[in-house]
Amino acid sequence: MENRQHIFVVPGASPVPTITTPLSAIFGDHVNLLVFPTWRAAVDATDNVIPSLLILELTTDNISHSLSLLRFFRASYKLHDVPVLAAMPETSIDLRPPLVEVGVTDFLSLPYDAIELKVRCQTLLRLNRQQSIIRDKADWLEGRVRSAVKETNDREKETLKLLAKAGEFRDEETGNHINRLASYSRLIAQTLNLPREQCNLIEQAAPMHDIGKIGIPDHILLKPGRHTAQEKRLMQKHTVIGYNILKDSKSKYVRMGATIALCHHERFDGSGYPDRLSGTDIPLSARIVAVADVYDALTSTRPYKTPWLVAQALKYLEHERGKHFDPDCVDAFLCHSVSLQSLQKAV
Ligand SMILES: [Fe+2]
Ligand SMILES: [Fe+2]
Repeated sequence: MENRQHIFVVPGASPVPTITTPLSAIFGDHVNLLVFPTWRAAVDATDNVIPSLLILELTTDNISHSLSLLRFFRASYKLHDVPVLAAMPETSIDLRPPLVEVGVTDFLSLPYDAIELKVRCQTLLRLNRQQSIIRDKADWLEGRVRSAVKETNDREKETLKLLAKAGEFRDEETGNHINRLASYSRLIAQTLNLPREQCNLIEQAAPMHDIGKIGIPDHILLKPGRHTAQEKRLMQKHTVIGYNILKDSKSKYVRMGATIALCHHERFDGSGYPDRLSGTDIPLSARIVAVADVYDALTSTRPYKTPWLVAQALKYLEHERGKHFDPDCVDAFLCHSVSLQSLQKAV
């Protein structure tokens, strides 16, 4: 990293004595002194060099150019806190107010006093160095905070996935069910034009839909044949069990997981469970997951069935449009029927 500081000088018109010569004597090789004949040339140079100090020699003739240059610096993201020293004859004291308004940092009277010039420049260079240290520290801290937040989020998402996996573990031959379910749910949410944050939430929460199955006894959950009416009622309790496990979480993902767990077996026509909700009384996240879950179950291999063809499964969704499923969610999913079919062919 280059530590050498750069001073930009834009001298005034003759006969005002320029301060370039004394500056060279004061700083020698420690500072790179760059003198520009016009304010435009100084602006162009900032493409390659960020000055540590800008010195403007002012006269009544060049005040408007100096103000333009100062405005340019103050409006620029990379230059806005560069100190600007306005060197001007004592007689031009009335030029000060507009310069202060635009953001000049300090004034120096001309003709200059060598000691005053030296002290003033050193103070302003020190100010610039300290500002850049503070800025670097702030950037570093911001980076640390950002990576800590990302790490926490990643860990939270991983925990959610593991939790969902645990929920599916004793159940059917689900393979990648929860991953596919998450992707399908996101796809539907996106096609419904839900905000990005909402799409993320649904994608992360969907895999927790069946977490309540961990509360269902083996002899019912794993029973190979048909369930009796009583066993069916017990099986249906996985919705409420899942909700009770997840509902009090501080995580918004888990809280949405609770909603999905409770409502993913509700049906649009009101014939579902556990609460026989209907239409838009069923939370949208659960209406979305219902479509994704049934579609994936139909198109996947299970111990008791071979996978349906995508076309068959999509036809089923269409048939259940407005009965089992929210018509909008079905339509959103059917928008992707071509890519879903080519996906199955590719597998
Ligand atoms: Fe379920
Ligand atoms: Fe499922």
